[in-house]
Amino acid sequence: MRKAIHQLHFEGSFHGELPELGLPEIAFAGRSNVGKSSALNTLLQRKRAARTSSTPGRTQAINLFRLGDAGVFADLPGYGFAKVPQHVKDKWKQTIESYLSTREQLRLVVVLVDARRKPTALDGQLLWALVEQSIPSLVVATKVDKLKRSQRGKQLAQIRREFQLTKGQPIAFSSVTKEGRDAVWDAIEAAAAGPTLRRV
Ligand code: GTP
Ligand code: MG
Repeated sequence: MRKAIHQLHFEGSFHGELPELGLPEIAFAGRSNVGKSSALNTLLQRKRAARTSSTPGRTQAINLFRLGDAGVFADLPGYGFAKVPQHVKDKWKQTIESYLSTREQLRLVVVLVDARRKPTALDGQLLWALVEQSIPSLVVATKVDKLKRSQRGKQLAQIRREFQLTKGQPIAFSSVTKEGRDAVWDAIEAAAAGPTLRRV
C-alpha cells in the first residue's frame, strides 16, 4: 500500500452514504485537533492532501483518499470539541458509529491521542467500541515533538496503562519530525493484508 502513495486520488468528502470502493480501508480517528489530518499527510508524504487546521473541528465529513488500487484512507471527523453545539456533537458521534458498524472493507482504525495529554473517556469509549466489534485498532501518540525527553517515557507509559495496550503501542508519532512514520506504515500494511472483518 505504501508504494501506492504516488497514485493518490481524493474520492471526496461524504456526509451521508459512502461509495463502495472494494479496497482495504484504514480509518483515522481521534479527538478534534489531535493531528489526524496531519498524520495522514505525513504518511502520504503530501503537504496538504488532507486539510489541517489550528481550528478544532475542521474535518466534519468523512474524507476518502484512494491509493491507486491498493487501499483507502478515511479521515474521520474529530470528536470531543467542547465549543460546538450538542446537536453537532451528536451528529459526529452518529457519523462515526455508523461508519464503524457498516464499513465492510474496514481493516484497521488508527486511534490518535495527544502524547501530552491524559487520555480521555471519549478515546476509551472508541477503543471499547472497536474491541466489541472486533475491529483492529492501533493507538498512535501524536505531537511527541512537543514533549521533553524526560516526560516522554512517562506520558507514553500512562497511555499504555490507561488503555491496557500491548507492547509496541502507543506508537510515538510526530508530523513535524516524521518520527513513527515507518512503524505506522508497517502496522497499516499488515492490517491491509489481513482478512476482511465482516462477511459480505
Ligand atoms: P480535526 O480535523 O479538527 O479533528 O483536527 P485533526 O485531528 O485533523 O488535526 P490537524 O491535523 O488539523 O492538526 C491540528 C493542529 O495540530 C494543526 O495546527 C497542526 O499543525 C498541529 N499538529 C498536528 N500534528 C502535529 C505534530 O505531530 N506536532 C506538532 N507540533 N503539531 C502538530
Ligand atoms: Mg482533520
